[in-house]
Order: sequence, then structure tokens, then C-alpha cells
Amino acid sequence: MENTDHRVAQTSAPILGVLAQRWSPRSFDSTVTIDEKVLTSALEAARWSASAANTQPWRLVVTRRGTSEFDTIVAALMGFNTTWASSAAVLIVAIAETIDGDGKPLRWAEYDLGQAMAHLSVQAHSDGLHVHQMGGIFVDKLSEAFHLDARFVPVSAVALGVLGSPDLLDEKARERELAPRSRRPLDGTILVNA
Ligand SMILES: Cc1cc2nc3c(=O)[nH]c(=O)nc-3n(C[C@H](O)[C@H](O)[C@H](O)COP(=O)(O)O)c2cc1C
Repeated sequence: MENTDHRVAQTSAPILGVLAQRWSPRSFDSTVTIDEKVLTSALEAARWSASAANTQPWRLVVTRRGTSEFDTIVAALMGFNTTWASSAAVLIVAIAETIDGDGKPLRWAEYDLGQAMAHLSVQAHSDGLHVHQMGGIFVDKLSEAFHLDARFVPVSAVALGVLGSPDLLDEKARERELAPRSRRPLDGTILVNA
């Protein structure tokens, strides 16, 4: 088991342990397959996320390492992501339903999708997995490969699996893996605190 204490958030106020401990690794153990029950729980957590008017404007392509669909996602990753993400046990394409079946724009689709992926990440982390979301994807390649109607837009790819050793990474990724996590102070985020 890797010691990941250096990745725990140094918070200015107490927060839930799982939120402080969640982080996005690039080293995944490529020898393990996914625990299907844990994967289903992560997907179920996404399902129960809040959304505007309960429209649930998210769709997922869920693929396991070793399948051709997984390889299709790997082939649609950009640059740096191709160097590490293929070790994950699962790759997911997170898709926003931007227009509903009646042609009405779903204005909060991407917002709601992001929230669903946050649920998924937190549940997965709580169950001993790690998640790394990626915006570096070729959207058109994914739309074409998975025959998506134009109203369904791939927004991110999500790597999910068991944490691996930083030693498995190239130097650039290893440096990032071992660096402390940082955030802008809370004061810089809250514009008005009346
Ligand atoms: C929408 C989104 C897109 C991201 N895109 C990438 C990406 O393409 N490649 C990558 O290595 N990390 C990507 N990340 C990971 C972020 O860099 C990471 O979450 C951030 O540095 C904070 O680190 P933490 O998750 O460990 O707290 C992305 C994260 C999100 C939420």
C-alpha cells in the first residue's frame, strides 16, 4: 500500500475525511481488475447526484481494461494523458446531454455532469479506488466511435482504478505525483462574504 499522506489536503477548516484524502493520481496498478461491486457503487453515486429539474443530463460509456472499447478511449486521449491513463482498470467517457429529446437546450447539462462525476469520485475514493478526470480528449473521435447523437457531447474521460507506485511513472508524471496538493486560499474564492 502506497503512503499517500503527502496528498492529503491541508485544510483551513475541518472537512470530511474522504474529501481531504481524495486526489487524482496518474499511477494505477495495471495488474488488478475492477471490483464490479465497487464500480457499481461509484456509478450509483453518480446516478443520485442532484440536477436541474432532475433532468439527469449525463450519460456514461464505461469500459474495462482489455476491451476494444477501452482501447478506443485510450486512442482518443490527448498527449500527456496517453502516457499514464491506460493503466487504469476502467475508463469512462462522461457525456453531457446538452439538448433534450424535444429539442430544448439543457442549460445546466455540463454543470450537472460535473457534479455527478464529483459524486462518483468521492464514492470511489471512499471505497478504496482512485479517480482521475481528464479534459484532454478528442471529442469528435469519441462521438464517432460511440455513435453519439449531436445532442450528446463528450466532456471528459475518467480513469478509475487501484493506486499504483509513483515509480511506474515517467519523470514528469512522477514529479507531479509526489508534489503536495495546493489550492488558492478560501479568501481568494469568496468575492463577497457579507
Ligand atoms: C474537468 C477536469 C479536466 C482535467 N483534465 C486533466 C487532463 O486532461 N490531464 C490530467 O492529467 N489531469 C486532468 N485533470 C486533473 C486535474 O489536474 C486535478 O484534478 C487538479 O490538478 C487537482 O488535483 P487533485 O484532483 O489531486 O486535487 C482534470 C480535472 C478535471 C476536473
